[in-house]
This record gives sequence, C-alpha cells and structure tokens, in this order.
Amino acid sequence: MNKMFPNLMSPAYIGNVEIKNRIVTAPLWTGSGGRDGSVTSRTIALYSEKARGGSGLITIEYSYVDNVASKSAFGQLGIYDDECIGGFALLAQAIHDQGVKCAVQLAHAGPMKFLPIPPWLGPSDGFHDLSNMGPVPPLPITGMTKDDIAEQIEAFAAAAERIKKAGFDMVDIHAAHGYLLTEFLSPHANKRNDEYGGTLENRMRFPIEVVEAVKGRVGPDFPVTVRLNGTDYAPESPITIDEAIQFAKRLEEVGVDALHVSGGTDVYLNKLATTTYVKHGFNVYLAEAVKKKADIKVPVIATGGITTPAFAEEILNQGKVDFIALGRPALADPHWARKIEEGRPEDIVPCIRCNDGCLRRTIGFAHATSCAVNPRMGFESIRKVAPIKEKKKVAIVGGGPGGMEAARLATLRGHDVTLYEKRELGGALIDACWDKELKRDIPLLMDYYRTQMEKLNIMVVKEEATVETIVKGGFDAAIVANGAVPIKLDVPGMDKPHVYEALDVTGGREKELGNTLVIIGGGVLACEIALSQARKGKQVIMTAPEGCFAGEYEIGGDSIPNRQALMEGLRESKVEINLCLLPKEITDDGIISVDQDGNDREFKADSVVVCRGFTADKSLMNALNGKIKEVRAIGDCVASRLIYEAIHEGWVAANQI
Ligand SMILES: Cc1cc2nc3c(=O)[nH]c(=O)nc-3n(C[C@H](O)[C@H](O)[C@H](O)COP(=O)(O)OP(=O)(O)OC[C@H]3O[C@@H](n4cnc5c(N)ncnc54)[C@H](O)[C@@H]3O)c2cc1C
Ligand SMILES: Cc1cc2nc3c(=O)[nH]c(=O)nc-3n(C[C@H](O)[C@H](O)[C@H](O)COP(=O)(O)O)c2cc1C
Ligand code: SF4
Repeated sequence: MNKMFPNLMSPAYIGNVEIKNRIVTAPLWTGSGGRDGSVTSRTIALYSEKARGGSGLITIEYSYVDNVASKSAFGQLGIYDDECIGGFALLAQAIHDQGVKCAVQLAHAGPMKFLPIPPWLGPSDGFHDLSNMGPVPPLPITGMTKDDIAEQIEAFAAAAERIKKAGFDMVDIHAAHGYLLTEFLSPHANKRNDEYGGTLENRMRFPIEVVEAVKGRVGPDFPVTVRLNGTDYAPESPITIDEAIQFAKRLEEVGVDALHVSGGTDVYLNKLATTTYVKHGFNVYLAEAVKKKADIKVPVIATGGITTPAFAEEILNQGKVDFIALGRPALADPHWARKIEEGRPEDIVPCIRCNDGCLRRTIGFAHATSCAVNPRMGFESIRKVAPIKEKKKVAIVGGGPGGMEAARLATLRGHDVTLYEKRELGGALIDACWDKELKRDIPLLMDYYRTQMEKLNIMVVKEEATVETIVKGGFDAAIVANGAVPIKLDVPGMDKPHVYEALDVTGGREKELGNTLVIIGGGVLACEIALSQARKGKQVIMTAPEGCFAGEYEIGGDSIPNRQALMEGLRESKVEINLCLLPKEITDDGIISVDQDGNDREFKADSVVVCRGFTADKSLMNALNGKIKEVRAIGDCVASRLIYEAIHEGWVAANQI
C-alpha cells in the first residue's frame, strides 16, 4: 500500500476490468491524427509517453464515428470504418505494453464542430451562438430527422465494436460539453416536439438508445462508460444537476459501467478547462452529487483542475468519487502517477491552468496540442534528451522559469551548472503570483522548480552576473535568461507620488494604493490587477488603448477560457472598462486620456497604475557575444513573452549545449 496516497494508489474495477490505481487520464484532443482521422506516429509517441507514466486507465481523446458530420476538429482521430481499426490496434498495443488499461472516447460533434464544413447537426433547426468564444458568427444547425438519429445510433454501435476489435479494454461515450448527445439533453438546444424532445425522459432518449445499442453490440463483458455534464452552465435553460442525476440513474439502469462527470461546454470553456482564477476541482461537486444523490453503484469519476496528488487523495478519502481524472495535468506531466508510485510527488510538474499550449495555440493558431510547462508534450519525436559529448562548465544567468528549466536539464544531462540569480529563484513568477487567490497555480510551478534546483544540487549564486563574471569564471558555455524590463510610459506627471508601475503593485506596494484606481493598459496583467483590486473592494477604472471588435472587448489576451474568466470577473466586480484611449497626462487627482476623435477624457482617482507591458533586456546577451565560445539567449530576454517560451527555449538550449 502506498503510504502517502493509499486511496489514490489502490486498485479498483470498472466492469470486469481491474484498474491498478484510481488515476484515469481524461480524453483530451491532441490534434495528432492524420487528415483522415488515422492514428499517426505522433499519436503513438504521445500516448506511449502517457502509458509509461503509470495511470491506471488512459482514455484516448474523442474520436468521430462517421464521415458525415461527426468530426469536430482538425487532427482528430476517427473510427468510422473498418480500415481505421489497424491504427487503433497499434495504439492499444503501445499502451498495453506498459501495463496500462485503455479506452477510446466516441463522439459526434453536433454543434461543437470547429471545421468550416457543413452540416452542423443538432436536435433542432436553429443557430448556435458562439459569441462567448469571441467575434464568431452563429452556426446554422440542421435538426436531425428520425432517420438521422437511427443512423447515428448505428454509427456509435459500429464504432464501439471496432474499438473492441482493436483490443481496447473499454469504450467511453461522449455525452458532455455540448457535443451532439448533450445537445439532445439540453432544454436550451432541444426544441423538438416528438419523442426525442420535451420532457426529460424524451430528451434522454437518444443518448440512452446510443448506450443500449453500444452495449448490445460489444456484449456484457466489455465495459461501457459515459462522460456526462453535471451542468453545462448555459446561461439560459441549462442542464441542471437534478436532470443530470436522473440521466445518470437511467444510464446505470441500462448497464453503463462507470460515469465520468464533467461540466461546461466548449463555448463556456472557462467552466470546462477551468483557469487559474478559480478554485481547484471546480466541477468535483457535480460528480459528488451524481454519486451520492443518485445513489450510483458503478464507479464515478471526477475531473477538472485536480492538479496535485494531495488534493486528489483528499477527494477520494472523503468518498466524493471513486476515480479522479487528469486532463491537462497529464499533459503537464504524463508521469504524474509513476512519480507517486516512486514516492517522489514533489517531482510532478504542475499544470498551471494557463490554457496556453493546449488551447490558445490550438484554437488560435491551429497548432496541435502542446503544453507550456512540458516542452516535450506533442514534440516527443523531435525532442529527445540527447546524451552529452563532453562535460561542460555552464553558466546560466537568471533564475526565472527559463533559466531554471535550462539548469535542470543541463544538470540531468551531466553538465556542471552554475545558476546566477540576483534576486530570488522564481524570476517573474514571483511577480506573477502576488495575489494567490487570483493566480492559484503559479506558486506550485515555482515550488516545483525551486525543489528541483535543490534536489539536483545545482550551484545557485545569489549575485548579479556580469560579462566579467562569466568570462573570468572559465565557463565553456552560457545560457542567458535574464528576462524583460517594464516599458516606461512617457507622459507628463509620471513622477507624481500616486503613480505606480505594475511591478510596484505585484512587488509589495499594493497596500499603498487608494480607494479609487485608474489602470492604464488592457493586457492580461492590467486586467488581473484590476480584478484583484476590485475583489478587494476598490473602485477600479480601466483605460485601455485596445478596442472592441464585433461587440467583443479586445483586452485580456487571447486564451479563450482565461479571457472568458477575466471578463466574467471584471463584469461581476463592476470594473469600469474604457477602450480606445491613449494616456496624455497624469494629474494630481487622476489622468487625462485622448479618445479616437482626439477629445480629452478625464478620469478621477486616488492612485494610477501603469501597465504598459515589458520589453526584452538584451544588454547582457549582446555584451557576451564573442566573449565566450557558446552563448545562447532564451525566454523574455529575447522577446517579452510567456512562461511557455521561457521553458521551451530553456529546454532546447540545455539539450543542445
Ligand atoms: C506580473 C506578471 C505576471 C505574469 N503572469 C504570467 C502568466 O500568468 N502566464 C504566463 O505564461 N506568463 C506570465 N508572465 C510572464 C512570465 O512570467 C515570463 O514570460 C517568464 O517568467 C519569463 O521567464 P524568463 O526565465 O525568461 O525570465 P524571468 O522570469 O524574467 O527571470 C529572469 C531572472 O533573471 C534575473 N536576472 C536578471 N539579470 C540578472 C543578472 N545579471 N544576474 C543574475 N540574475 C539576473 C532576474 O532577477 C530574474 O529572476 C507574467 C509576468 C509578470 C511580470
Ligand atoms: C485541449 C483540450 C482537449 C480536450 N479534449 C477533450 C476530448 O476529446 N473529450 C472530452 O471529453 N474532453 C476533452 N477535454 C476536456 C478535458 O478532458 C477535461 O475535462 C478538462 O480539461 C478539465 O480537466 P483538467 O483540469 O484535468 O484538464 C479537452 C480539454 C482540453 C484543454
Ligand atoms: S498549457 Fe497550461 S493549461 Fe495546458 S496543460 Fe500545459 S500547463 Fe496546463
């Protein structure tokens, strides 16, 4: 028995399949499939890595069931005909080779189809509102006929049979997150007046018929699980927890072997892929309600923001559910379970719920899934740790995430590393988590890196490194990771005592701020400071140079869930947002800005906070060039960006030195 995490590491059954621990990796699209939905070598590489990580059960991402309208996203896997079986069989084998059980999630996109190819199917004709995702026009939805319904029931059943033939241990059906089956359940989307609409019994009919058909096709000994929503958080006529409980009861009656309870939809993404601004385990209460209020006897799985083993253990220990699932945490660290097994949970790389690699760059730039804190995720085949040719003496300047990641990998590869940090290990992460109620995850990342520096016995020198330090130190190579500096605002009045820079606020001078604040800026940090201060009872006015597009503010960055969460917070805490304004002058009692028409606008405040962003500090990098044999610059000192670039570039530099 594992002494630290006895519940988490105890075996249990789903149907007749024994799972070696209570850790399930949640289905999570990776964008690694071929254009025809085929399993590729990238798919195999990333799931093999997950399998080596020791979870009890790996659920392969949502896979589409037909070639008509069920495909949701580019790079998605498909299991729509028998030719697909071979690739899936290889995938099952790769996972089984590591002693891990595996399932595939079957899905029909319904309205959650992010491909510009009609039709978008749903329960009823109408339009699907995507405005919460940004300036996107509504989607035209074609209501399904009874023949369409019958076709889809058959498509799910045939796909499940293929999964069984491919050698998987069980199959999961996606009835959550606003995909086709949830949409039938939703009183908001389902306006039918036949036996598939109206009462809850009728709205459940299609998903229940799908489950019955799947069970009938795979037989009683092959477990079938269902992922359902405890609520979809739709603002109008949501699926309520009471309805979800009735649905769960019916699913159990028709023979489902486990229920995986989630919440939110791809449109209300901040309730699904929750952000660092909300508590961990945001949706666990839904799974607990299903288990307890519906008196469900089959295992119930909880998911969403369960990032640490201690928290997972507590959920199980309190009897809330039977299994926990890791979505993004298994991207951040696919070896989450194995590290617990080996008694070193402190080595788990925490998911920081930034939604940068896994959502911003996927939805925004059409990249496959990657992860800010795990430079190998999605790049398994091109980023392998390289053996060193000769041991080198390496100086690393800057103990932010970039410098610490570089120090970690360079040391693991066998180099002799000295890390210079003039302030404290953590870099801009220290500033980033000044309000721990607001940014709840970055402290965990900082702890992880500080622990690694200690465990690896990395020599940390607490001083400012100069060109002289590096040259005289006799280093063979240097990695420069000294970060960025704030951009100064050049307007009259900047020297007044009531003017603060963003880093003053994050660096401890927050308590000096008055009761009314004007914030200059519209980036993520400006929004975060506004939200943090408003939650503490301050009256906050934002004046941002950014504008508005198709009714949507262009402030707050572009990771959809994080932006949704910030905007929701700013609205709820009544922050006044003023757009398209350039600062002109700071006065004794506020600021004067200029609007698009050249008119002055005056805002009164006790304190003014300037958030103008950051710019790379290239001075050391430029000065070192040519002074020693090998110099590499990484992270914010190359260009002011995010944790993602700092860690990825730190890893790559350390692997090439
Ligand atoms: C308030 C704030 C909030 C943020 N929030 C987020 C967020 O939520 N998500 C996200 O992805 N990014 C966020 N960022 C950006 C992110 O923190 C940076 O992109 C990232 O930290 C850059 O890492 P780095 O290692 O390149 O540099 P840094 O983290 O800036 O580290 C540089 C380090 O070098 C040290 N140093 C500088 N010169 C020397 C020298 N000569 N000798 C020795 N040491 C030196 C500094 O003291 C510092 O510790 C935030 C930034 C700030 C300021
Ligand atoms: C990039 C991405 C892809 C996802 N793909 C799926 C999917 O294929 N099927 C599904 O049911 N949920 C999917 N989800 C939701 C996750 O399984 C999980 O429920 C969610 O991320 C919250 O859990 P976490 O905090 O552990 O990540 C996805 C989430 C993300 C961020
Ligand atoms: S990119 Fe951010 S949210 Fe996504 S898995 Fe990685 S750390 Fe978590």
